[in-house]
Amino acid sequence: MGKKIDIFTEPEDVDSNTLANLGPLVRLAGTWEGTKGVDVSPKEDGPETRKFKERIVMEPIDPQANGPQLFYGLRYHLKVNTDEEAITFHDQVGYWLYEPETGLILQTIAIPRGLVAIASGYAKAGDKKIKLSAKRGETEYGICANSFLEMAFKTEEYTIEITFNDDGTWSYVSDTMLKVKGQKELFRHRDTNILNKIAEPKPNPLEILEGDR
Ligand code: HEM
Repeated sequence: MGKKIDIFTEPEDVDSNTLANLGPLVRLAGTWEGTKGVDVSPKEDGPETRKFKERIVMEPIDPQANGPQLFYGLRYHLKVNTDEEAITFHDQVGYWLYEPETGLILQTIAIPRGLVAIASGYAKAGDKKIKLSAKRGETEYGICANSFLEMAFKTEEYTIEITFNDDGTWSYVSDTMLKVKGQKELFRHRDTNILNKIAEPKPNPLEILEGDR
């Protein structure tokens, strides 16, 4: 008989200070801007490459426990547009989560095309790179999209690799592998950018409360 796992009891040693427990994700906390974004996206006449600018806000949230599983994390909102056009090309919200016990990193993704995903990977404090992926068909770290996207631009895989640079900036390369209706090969919808910090993060709400005591 296997040992019975207690799935209900929450850890007792929860630290109210999220920023002190984010492991490698601490380098993402704050408000960021990047003007050197490059996008390759699918268009009727073939791949289109365009430059973009981006603003990302990543705010520490209070520690979250699923019974014994404990996450520290950031809630993020990113917006992509260009100097020429004010419209938002890409908008994305979600969470970056870190489980100190295992080094599990999750990025949840929601975009207003009607798509959600959870990408996963492993990393530890001090790592210079983080790599996460979500795959079609997985129910744990998978991708779910509305019927039109499934028919016309079906996401088979999503990966993101983040590199923390020595000057405090960070860069990312994200690949969204799309099955475009009528095309044989998968299309690599690639986005890259370098982010500069423009504001420090505020502590999470619980930490602000505890600090007053
Ligand atoms: C996460 C999954 C993603 C999916 C399923 C997705 C899907 C698509 C599709 C189907 C298009 C081409 C059709 C169109 O022009 O509307 C597109 C265009 C584009 N995407 Fe994505 N995308 C994703 C992630 C991203 C990310 C992470 C970024 C940037 C950080 C991004 C930026 C863009 C840009 C700039 C365009 C071109 C917009 C235009 O020229 O009108 N996408 N995306």
